[in-house]
Amino acid sequence: MNARYEVEGVEQTWAVAREFAAELKPGDVVCLEGDLGAGKTTFTQGVASALGAKRPVTSPTFCLVVEHPSERALLVHMDLYRLHDADDVLAIGWEDYLARGAVLLVEWPDRAGDLIPALARHVRFTLGATEDSRTIEFAP
Ligand SMILES: Nc1ncnc2c1ncn2[C@@H]1O[C@H](COP(=O)(O)OP(=O)(O)O)[C@@H](O)[C@H]1O
Ligand SMILES: [Mg+2]
Repeated sequence: MNARYEVEGVEQTWAVAREFAAELKPGDVVCLEGDLGAGKTTFTQGVASALGAKRPVTSPTFCLVVEHPSERALLVHMDLYRLHDADDVLAIGWEDYLARGAVLLVEWPDRAGDLIPALARHVRFTLGATEDSRTIEFAP
């Protein structure tokens, strides 16, 4: 995996996500950082399909957390945008998911504050110069 990818279009974001998914292990927490529309949910779609999840990954208005079980892992996709603080995040079952060894992909992880483990992976998405261009950066 490189540290930085310049992608053009969702297919390329999915391809980077598939490569990243190959490294994931149970218990991994992945913080997806970037503005609305930067591609966090799109990236999650690529990870979910690589892990063999059956259910489509969407950007639901009211669901904060969606489970995507597969034979390889329990992928849990969280969108914490509407939450305020770590207490809210605990209330949606954060500790339970960690205890179950889920792979957690978390949009708006700042809401979770100190709950984010020190060993969490960080992926940053930035809008590019054109409508379909994005930069995807992986923290070391
Ligand atoms: N290279 C790209 N990667 C990801 N999304 C892209 C890309 N190019 C265009 N898009 C569009 O940008 C939007 C990204 O939305 P989404 O993944 O839901 O963002 P976020 O979850 O960060 O708010 C989608 O409408 C998608 O079709
Ligand atoms: Mg999203």
